[in-house]
Amino acid sequence: MNIVALVYLLEHIEMLITIYSCFTSLIIMMNKKRKMSEYWLISAPGDKTCQQTWETLNNVTSKQNSLSINYKFHIPDLKVGTLDQLVGLSDDLGKLDSFVDQVTHKVASYLGEVLEDQRDKLQENLMANNGDLAVYLTHFQWDMAKYPIKQSLRNIADIISKQVGQIDADLKTKSSVYNNLKSSLQNMEKKQTGSLLTRNLADLVRKEHFIQDSEYLTTLLVVVPKSGFSDWNQNYEKLTDMIVPRSSQLVSQDNDYGLFTVTLFKKVAEEFKHHAREKKFIVREFTYNEVELAAGKNEISKLVTDKKKQFGPLVRWLKVNFSECFCAWIHVKALRVFVESVLRYGLPVNFQAMLLHPNKKNTKRLRDVLHQLYGHLDSSAQQGGASGAHDSVDIPGLGFGQAEYFPYVYYKINIDMVDSKA
Ligand SMILES: *[C@@H]1O[C@H](CO)[C@@H](O)[C@H](O)[C@H]1NC(C)=O
Ligand SMILES: *[C@@H]1O[C@H](CO)[C@@H](O)[C@H](O)[C@H]1NC(C)=O
Repeated sequence: MNIVALVYLLEHIEMLITIYSCFTSLIIMMNKKRKMSEYWLISAPGDKTCQQTWETLNNVTSKQNSLSINYKFHIPDLKVGTLDQLVGLSDDLGKLDSFVDQVTHKVASYLGEVLEDQRDKLQENLMANNGDLAVYLTHFQWDMAKYPIKQSLRNIADIISKQVGQIDADLKTKSSVYNNLKSSLQNMEKKQTGSLLTRNLADLVRKEHFIQDSEYLTTLLVVVPKSGFSDWNQNYEKLTDMIVPRSSQLVSQDNDYGLFTVTLFKKVAEEFKHHAREKKFIVREFTYNEVELAAGKNEISKLVTDKKKQFGPLVRWLKVNFSECFCAWIHVKALRVFVESVLRYGLPVNFQAMLLHPNKKNTKRLRDVLHQLYGHLDSSAQQGGASGAHDSVDIPGLGFGQAEYFPYVYYKINIDMVDSKA
C-alpha cells in the first residue's frame, strides 16, 4: 500500500465527505423540484357504471401509457337544489375557490416569514389533517362534521366562506401585532450597531469616563474620523479656552471613526461644539444616566421575551389554520366538481370524479388522451379540431372566466405552497 496515498486520503477525507454530501443533497433537492405538485381533478359522466368510467380512464392513461397516476376522488351525495341555484353557485364557487386559495397561500407564506432562519422547515410544517398535503388530496374524504351534507350547497359554501374569512381577518391582526414587535426589536438592535455617528453609545461608555455632578465641568463625547486622530490629539486642547488638559480618552472605535471623551467647562461647551464641527469632529449629544441606560437594556430584553412568548402560539395557530384552509380549499374543489358535473352532464347525478397526477414529461399526451376519451361530450369544443380545441377558449357569460376550457369538468390543483406564486 502506498503510504503517501493513504496519508493523502486520510488528510482529505473530510473534504471528500463534504463534497459527497453536497452532491447527494443537490440530487435530493433536484428530485424534490422535479416532483410534480400539480394535480388534475376531472369528472366524466358515468358509463354503464361509474366504476367502468374509472376503469376506462385508468386503463388508457395509467396502465397502458404511464401518463399519470390516478385516484378516485370521492364526493358524497350532496343536495342538488334547483338549476337556477346551481348556475348562481357555479360563479360564486369560482370566487370562493380563489379566495380560499389566496388565504391558504397567505397563511403558508406568513408561516415561512415567522420561521425566519428556520424557514427550511416550512414544508414539513405545512400539513393537512396532520398528514402530507398530497396524501390528503389523493385520499380525500369529505368532512361530514364540519360541512354537513344535509345542508344545501349554498349553506356549505357559506360555512367555508365564513370560516376562511375569519382566519383571514385574524391573520391580519395577528401578523400586524407580531410584525410591529419584530420591527421595534430590529430598530433597537440596529441602534446597538452601526456607525459611531448614529449608533446608541450607551453600552460603549462607562461611568468613569465622565466627570459627574460637577457644578462647572462637563464631559463630551466626540466622534473623530480615523484620519483625524493625530489632529485631534494635537489640537483638541486648543479648540477653546477652559479645556481640561490631557482629559481626552479614546473610548471606542469602529472601521471609520473613534469615540473620544473630552472634559471642559460647561460654559464653553457650545463654542467647543462649533469649533469642533469646523474640523470635522462631531460632538454627540449624550448625558450619562445609569437609570436610563438600564431602562434601554430592559426594553430590548422585554421585546426579546415578548417575541419568544408569541412565537410558539403564533406558529401553532398558523399550522392549524393552514390545515383548515387547505382542507376547506379541497372541499371547495369538490363542490365545484359536483356543481359543474350536474350542470354539464345533467340529472340524475351520475358522474365519476377522478384525480390525476400527471407524469411531468407527458402532460401534453395526457391532455390528448383525455380529449380522445371525452371530446364528444362537448360539440363546440369538438368542432375546433382534435388537437387545437383544448387550448384556452373563453366562453363569455358562462362563468369560466379566464380559465382554460375543456369538454370535461377540469380543475387544476397545485399543492406547492412554498415556491410557486401560482
Ligand atoms: C381495463 O383493462 C382490463 C385489462 O387490462 C380489462 O379487463 C378491462 O375490461 C378494461 N376496462 C375497461 C373499462 O376498458
Ligand atoms: C384557527 O383560527 C380561528 C380563527 O382565527 C381560531 O378561532 C382558532 O382558534 C384557530 N385554531 C387554532 C388551533 O389556533
